[in-house]
Amino acid sequence: MSSLNIVILAAGKGTRMYSDKPKVLHALAGKPLVQHVLDCATSLQPQQVCVVYGHGGEAVPQAMQQYGAKFVIQEPQLGTGHAVQQAMPHLEDGSSTLVLYGDVPLIQHSTLHQMQQAGKGLVLLTVNLDNPTGYGRIVRDPQGDVQSIVEQKDANPEQLEIREVNTGIMLVPTAKLREWLGKLGNNNAQGEYYLTDIVAMAVQQGMTVHTVQPVHQWEVEGINNKMQLATLERVWQQNQASKLMAQGVTLADPARLDVRGELVCGRDVEIDVGCIFEGKVTLGDHVKIGAYSVIRHASIAHGTQIAPYSHIDSSEVGANCHIGPYARLRPGSKLHDDAHVGNFVEIKNSEIGKGSKANHLSYIGDSTVGSRVNIGAGTITCNYDGANKFRTIIEDDVFIGSDTQLVAPVTVGKGATIGAGSTITRDTPAGELTLSRSKQITIAGWQRPVKGKK
Ligand code: UD1
Ligand code: MG
Repeated sequence: MSSLNIVILAAGKGTRMYSDKPKVLHALAGKPLVQHVLDCATSLQPQQVCVVYGHGGEAVPQAMQQYGAKFVIQEPQLGTGHAVQQAMPHLEDGSSTLVLYGDVPLIQHSTLHQMQQAGKGLVLLTVNLDNPTGYGRIVRDPQGDVQSIVEQKDANPEQLEIREVNTGIMLVPTAKLREWLGKLGNNNAQGEYYLTDIVAMAVQQGMTVHTVQPVHQWEVEGINNKMQLATLERVWQQNQASKLMAQGVTLADPARLDVRGELVCGRDVEIDVGCIFEGKVTLGDHVKIGAYSVIRHASIAHGTQIAPYSHIDSSEVGANCHIGPYARLRPGSKLHDDAHVGNFVEIKNSEIGKGSKANHLSYIGDSTVGSRVNIGAGTITCNYDGANKFRTIIEDDVFIGSDTQLVAPVTVGKGATIGAGSTITRDTPAGELTLSRSKQITIAGWQRPVKGKK
């Protein structure tokens, strides 16, 4: 097989998105449309990937910088043939060129691979549609050989009856592509340089035109508006849900799961409705995720239970922990095994040791908490003086009474107890009870104030 170039057409305006953002940068499953296409393209290990952009200025190359693709501008946009022409200086003869669309995000590796296997010559990806309106029609001769592609606006009534349409995706020998593009005219209904005109040129030169059809129609569906974007988003999510269930994951409702990244699950994982997973998330065996939890860039070890409405971001959770409901783990949180983090507890950039508990209404920030520590309700680490942040160290086996403020930097020694309601500003000794409270007094005979007469 000759080496492969890929040209991704992404210069179109996307008028019907009614957006300031170029169409191909709108997200599907949390990732720009064109990135889906680039990822699929990359999976074919091409020699060169060229993205043809135009509308939206440099936004497209800027957003896709890290990809190692070539970005070539098409300005003005004079049609699909003209678009491919812009990429030609970067493509070597002797290779094949695959044309993809930046707004057709769900094209699959397997289908493109099938095109590569289809044989020498020109390979078109076509699909039969019940309603072919708007698409270029595949015109065949009585023997069934492809003769040309005719655009909707240039088609005669007989051709308009054809249901087999051009998806726009094609594989062409690069040297021939260069030759044919040089001969393209724009004498057609739209005054554009049609890439599709190369098909008749190939036939004229006696070249075979092969056709391949995708396994799923959604692979070749394009996005022009927010309805189509939402439709393909659901297709993608349904596919994710099916893959997970095929691996044994229990989903309370496959239609109410959103994976915007990569979700890796162990055995017997259960996920309730409405959960969102972003970035790379790993769930160990027997992990349970409660309803409406949002989890991004996190790993959660085996046996841990996340109760509903919990948010976990860029954190690591050990085995057999209990989190939530309504818990929030912010970036840099690391929970060791058997930790408990309950409702309305916020943890940020902190380590919580094995078996330690913060079950109610707390803020633990920039802290290192040892093992078997109990943090009472309402405890706050005061980590910020308005300018700088400081750490709180709570050593093993500490008991912090409810409603304690720990003013960092401060260390609570091993096995210490802090009396409820304390404001701790200095290090506290190990093994001792420390408290800071004004003495409780009773004022005998005190009267509540009464309203004065007007
Ligand atoms: C094109 C095909 C048509 C096919 C249809 C499938 C041609 C002439 N027609 O029609 O046979 O059935 O796609 O959807 O090729 N683009 C550029 N620069 C341009 C014009 C387009 O980059 O100057 C890009 C667009 O961003 C888009 C793709 O090419 O990703 C197709 O453009 P579009 O205008 O949607 O093509 P159609 O007229 O629908
Ligand atoms: Mg067009």
